Amino acid sequence: MDKPRAHYHPVKNKRQFRNTLLGWFQENAKSYPWRETTDPWAILVSEIMLQQTTVASVIANHRFENFLHEFPNIEAISVASEEKVLRAWEGLGYYNRVRNLQKAAQTILQDYEGKFPSDAETLETLPGVGRYTAGAVSSFAFDHPAPIVDGNIARVLSRLLDYHKEVDSTEGQKVIWKTAGELLAPSKARLFNSALMELGQTICSSKSPACLVCPVQSFCQTKSPSSLPIKKPRKKFVQIDEHAFFWIENKRILLSRGHDSRRKGFWKLPLRSPEECSHLDFLSQHRYTITHHRVTLYLYHAKPPHLLEDEEYHFISELSNLPIATPIRKILSAKVSELER
Ligand code: ADE
Repeated sequence: MDKPRAHYHPVKNKRQFRNTLLGWFQENAKSYPWRETTDPWAILVSEIMLQQTTVASVIANHRFENFLHEFPNIEAISVASEEKVLRAWEGLGYYNRVRNLQKAAQTILQDYEGKFPSDAETLETLPGVGRYTAGAVSSFAFDHPAPIVDGNIARVLSRLLDYHKEVDSTEGQKVIWKTAGELLAPSKARLFNSALMELGQTICSSKSPACLVCPVQSFCQTKSPSSLPIKKPRKKFVQIDEHAFFWIENKRILLSRGHDSRRKGFWKLPLRSPEECSHLDFLSQHRYTITHHRVTLYLYHAKPPHLLEDEEYHFISELSNLPIATPIRKILSAKVSELER
């Protein structure tokens, strides 16, 4: 890789580094709907939404605008039913994110008289708000000098510093956050944080960093950008089997709603142990992936013989307005159209 040599150090030459990065951003900033606002509620929504969902899919499906149309402020989401909140988030996955978003809004109304906290320290005490999100809201909404480190920024900084230890270790996090705080242009936090993030999303990409056109290559200490950052080994997927009853009567599917912690509030097929299903007519087998699980779902043509504690059954004719996990909805739709053929 032909990477030009550094002449400066990003931390030792902070002022030049900031000016260079901000100059580049002024010419190259992308326009995003959440960059058109300084409303802290809208910014919080965008950051929570973008945690496990790509920018491209949030934009293409207007998820940010639609969610804010439904819940334009903390008052609106505070009084909404769980069902309505989950429905507005459907397809985005990781539903605890939106449950926490609602709790955060309620907390701001109850504990802060509806006035959004602006400092990162207070923001971080809100449900579902971590260090990154707190810094993002503080800097993007209020322009306060709070640093942020997400995956993109960690990659940029590990390369700038030629940091060859694990960035996601306690020590690595300390080094990277400290650097983010030192580099931050204190009077231009919103622009600076956006610029650093965007550099990571575009030029300083994970697989093919475009060092030859990088605005801050003369500050970048590494000779081997593609080998950085170094991360802890990834968690493996866990394989699980699920056995479910599938029963349709008068075009209505029998679904259950559990109150267990996993996917609370979502409609599911009634699940039972493999033993309880072993004597039943096997119908079909499906695979789906959810979080760290690779699931094989076995369907049996039967009604569950009895209710479980904490389980609620209903015959459902219209799936479209209920919270149902996307992979399950796909399987149900496929089964229904198979039966209608
Ligand atoms: N990804 C997460 N937050 C973002 C933001 N504010 N702008 C662009 N991409 C993002």
